Amino acid sequence: MAQLIAGNWKMNGLKAAAAEVEALAGQLAVTPGRCEVLICPPATLLAGLAERFAATPISFGGQDCHAQESGAHTGDVAAEMLADAGASHVIVGHSERRADHGESNETVRAKALAAQRAGLTPIVCVGEVEAERRAGNAIDVVKGQLAGSLPGAAFVVAYEPVWAIGTGLTPTAEDIAEMHAAIRGEVGADAAILYGGSVKPGNAGDILAIDNVGGALVGGASLKAADFGAIVAASA
Ligand code: PGA
Repeated sequence: MAQLIAGNWKMNGLKAAAAEVEALAGQLAVTPGRCEVLICPPATLLAGLAERFAATPISFGGQDCHAQESGAHTGDVAAEMLADAGASHVIVGHSERRADHGESNETVRAKALAAQRAGLTPIVCVGEVEAERRAGNAIDVVKGQLAGSLPGAAFVVAYEPVWAIGTGLTPTAEDIAEMHAAIRGEVGADAAILYGGSVKPGNAGDILAIDNVGGALVGGASLKAADFGAIVAASA
């Protein structure tokens, strides 16, 4: 299975950011990646980018969706709307959503099921906080999140230790291998398991070579085509 390199732009990017996608598409035209390349821009940019870059190998996704198909939910975006805008994937249960919006495992599962209902692949995020890692509970915490958040099948998991997101810190290769093996034991052979948390051009090759790492979910380093392109190029 080809690795999936997914960029999570978070709440960053105005229309001018299309220039970064253009540059990445240019790189891929010269040097096609061995991986699938996905960009999850803010919802405001999704339809425009998906349409403009439809003929490139770059796919687009959402960063969150509501569990319902439509209705009185001011400010929310339905999975069906993301699909209509050209998305193939949607991130659900990112730790920033779990923390900022109080999303429970149950909520995350409902969103993952909504994504599937709309024909999208959910990227379900899990990961321990620093105190849980220090206490030796990281694997149990993640197993609990998986048990509570995953839909039945046809999903991608992103393991993102919360303490590694945006900090420049990463777990050791041994810790990533141990966690990904534990997740593999829970999800079976078919699901891709991404690693996320301070993936950069300088560490991507080593991280992407670890057993059971099926790709990366990249935040900060996905905003610049030069960095994201280097990560794509590092994919095995
Ligand atoms: P980061 O974010 O690469 O900036 O650490 C990763 C993420 O939150 O998906």
